[in-house]
Amino acid sequence: MQRPKICLCLTCSTLAENLAVLEKYRRWIDMAELRADYLTDDERLYIRRFPAMAGIPVILTIRRLVDGGVYKGGEAARTALMARGLAFASQDTSKNFAYIDLEEDLDVPCIQDAALAFGTRIIRSMHNMTDTVTDLPAQMAKIRKTGYEIPKIACTPRTLVDVSTLFKESASLDYEHIVCCMGMFSIPSRILAERTGSFLTYSSPPADNIDEALTKLGHTDPIQLNTLYNFRAIDKKTDVFGITGFPLTHTLSPNLHNEGYHKHGMNAVYIPIKSESVKDALDFGKVLGIKGLSVTVPHKEDVLACLDSVSPEAAEIGACNTVVFGESGTTGYNTDAEGFEKALREFLQVKNLRGKKIAIIGAGGAAKAIAYTVYKLKGKACIFNRTLANARFLAGKYRFKYAVLGMESQKLLEEYSWLIIQTTPVGMGAGETDDSADPLIFYGFAGNEQVYDIIYNPEKTPLLRRAEQAGCRICNGYSMLKYQAYKQFELFTGVPYEN
Ligand code: ATR
Repeated sequence: MQRPKICLCLTCSTLAENLAVLEKYRRWIDMAELRADYLTDDERLYIRRFPAMAGIPVILTIRRLVDGGVYKGGEAARTALMARGLAFASQDTSKNFAYIDLEEDLDVPCIQDAALAFGTRIIRSMHNMTDTVTDLPAQMAKIRKTGYEIPKIACTPRTLVDVSTLFKESASLDYEHIVCCMGMFSIPSRILAERTGSFLTYSSPPADNIDEALTKLGHTDPIQLNTLYNFRAIDKKTDVFGITGFPLTHTLSPNLHNEGYHKHGMNAVYIPIKSESVKDALDFGKVLGIKGLSVTVPHKEDVLACLDSVSPEAAEIGACNTVVFGESGTTGYNTDAEGFEKALREFLQVKNLRGKKIAIIGAGGAAKAIAYTVYKLKGKACIFNRTLANARFLAGKYRFKYAVLGMESQKLLEEYSWLIIQTTPVGMGAGETDDSADPLIFYGFAGNEQVYDIIYNPEKTPLLRRAEQAGCRICNGYSMLKYQAYKQFELFTGVPYEN
């Protein structure tokens, strides 16, 4: 089977606008889908002209509401519109629609016959907007009416387990087909279309240009598919890596890792793998033969119990952000500690933290690696946390002090303010004018504190902004992210990131 094609979905209300979008992405795509359900009534009169305007193979799709489209008219009018798209076929087949998408329950012989006669291939589609499909091979066989048709199943997995099953089941499909997942767990099926043997992957321009609904379906933008994920180079030999977490928004890890493979000329790809359960992500990894997984919030602690072995450092820290899939099973590592140590040395220009009093804000998975590093570097810390019991537990490991995160701890925070390390998710994704997402809102900076916030998006959290305004030296979490990723890259590939 051929490598999957990249199909750009066109959802503007006029043909001219669709053409402009197509021009923008032309070099990144192989074909386009004209979603005529998005066109105005007037524009729908002229759909027949579009393939010649586009100059690449085009699918004609007029999607009903029930299948996730916006077509509100009746079936007779929709069929007439399809007929208009196929009519007056040109001898030059590049001027005709190359494909027409017909739903599996649409049985209009004259449209099918016209498609057949005019060289327009039928994509026979089935959509499940709320659930996955069970027994993919049987469902595909059911909707595939003739060998001339390409059956397509688009469904909505409820968990990553459903996605694993779809990947497993698609292995037995030995004819042209399209499989795509929609919704929250859709991304792996879109980027790894080669692994489902899908004839194409659907993609869309970034969200602000198109209807929000389409991005919810899980489309990736064509430029990202090509430049970030090197989609066209993915083949049977490509090593797959990924990052799992939930909700897994704001991750820059794919950029760092994929850039590394690119730099070293490696045939590898690193993708986001959203999962509510880390066990599901590990199982998915095994189904796909994934070589390594980065683990992020909220799975860094839970993952330990699911692994075959754990490095002494990850066991000591009690959190793992790196899983390597090897011959003898899964092994967990923690590269956050090393990443943080490097980032801290760079920020503070010190060899160790001897005699320094440091505040650690938060006591979750990231704080565990940070407390371990502060202890290793001989610092004295106090852990401030919303839930006192969690602070007590972590502080107990290293004989640190602990206190509740709030007004009553102001004096103690002043005492431990040579360096303040912020490890909670508060401030993540905060806007430029949003001052409320600040976990130390009760604390007034003197101006001589040094503040490290492990968040890197936005570049300056409300806390960092306030600290900087008071005259403090500040640093965001990008350096930690970068250094932990470099170490992870080496564990995954055996090659140092920078050489
Ligand atoms: P991690 O993967 O680091 O464990 P997390 O579970 O989201 O991420 O939370 C990490 C830390 O952020 C925890 O210390 C948590 O406090 P609790 O122990 O009280 O749960 C803290 N945290 C999360 N949301 C917070 C909020 N809105 N205000 C203050 N602290 C918060």
